Amino acid sequence: MDNLRVCFLGTGSMGSAVLRGLINSGHPVELISATTKSEESAVSFRAIGVSALSVEQSPDANALLSGDADVVVLGVKPYQIVDVLTEIAEELPKNSVVISMAGGIELKTMAASLPEHKNLIRSMPNTPAMVGQAVTGLASHSTASADALDAAQWLFSSVGEVVKVEEQQINALSAISGSGPAWIYFIIEQWEKVAISKGFTQEQAETLVRSTLFGSAALLADSGEEPSVLRKNVTSPGGTTERIIATLDEANLEKLFSSALDAAVNRANEIAAAKD
Ligand SMILES: NC(=O)c1ccc[n+]([C@@H]2O[C@H](COP(=O)([O-])OP(=O)(O)OC[C@H]3O[C@@H](n4cnc5c(N)ncnc54)[C@H](OP(=O)(O)O)[C@@H]3O)[C@@H](O)[C@H]2O)c1
Repeated sequence: MDNLRVCFLGTGSMGSAVLRGLINSGHPVELISATTKSEESAVSFRAIGVSALSVEQSPDANALLSGDADVVVLGVKPYQIVDVLTEIAEELPKNSVVISMAGGIELKTMAASLPEHKNLIRSMPNTPAMVGQAVTGLASHSTASADALDAAQWLFSSVGEVVKVEEQQINALSAISGSGPAWIYFIIEQWEKVAISKGFTQEQAETLVRSTLFGSAALLADSGEEPSVLRKNVTSPGGTTERIIATLDEANLEKLFSSALDAAVNRANEIAAAKD
């Protein structure tokens, strides 16, 4: 994969996280190009050696830069995907791997805009990509080659873990890991509020909750133990932790999490149906 030319079309939060991960993994910067809307963003990529063009200054930037790409990564907003694919369809080499990061845009929609391209991949990374600790779901079109999926796996491995799934699982995966950081941050917010309500300062509450979170995550990763084992290790029979778990269990967290996940999947289906 060392000689693949990778072109990012739309290089904002998610695109730039993957681009930087790719550079950090040692991929030659001369093989990386990027487009943005504003010239200001393009300048920031040129400053790190990436060939970057803005549509503000070069209206055909997307077609120009993707014209010799082996891998194209679509990092524009979902509503822009069809327009960008239509813009590049003529110039894009037929064997290029086209990877969309757009939530809710189905492979059949990509295929309709690129009828002569077979290597179409849908990806769902998450924001920890910004610190090289993403989880990315990948689903490939039935016409995509195994090499195309390997290229996508290679790319996203530069920012974390990769899970390959069938497209019908992408909406559930998006709800679990794509939206996953929001689940975690929301829990942290509630937990810190509770700590503050017990008289701790904001600073103390942040230290108590966040250090516990980081430490517990590190212990989970390092120990190789199941979370249930680690939980039982801090839960003495008849003790205080046991009461916490019993209270949370009474609220049926599993059912609540399942409802939250179903609500997200239903919303993804509604959005897809509105587009058809
Ligand atoms: N953020 C997430 O958690 C997340 C997770 C998974 C997937 N995604 C998907 O990733 C995609 C990007 O999301 P994001 O949060 O990274 O958005 P973003 O930060 O707004 O980035 C969008 C990028 O597209 C550029 N752009 C706008 N119009 C363009 C055009 N016509 N041609 C080329 N570039 C253009 C923007 O340029 P400027 O820099 O000049 O504005 C910007 O670089 C979305 O499809 C989203 O569904 C996001």
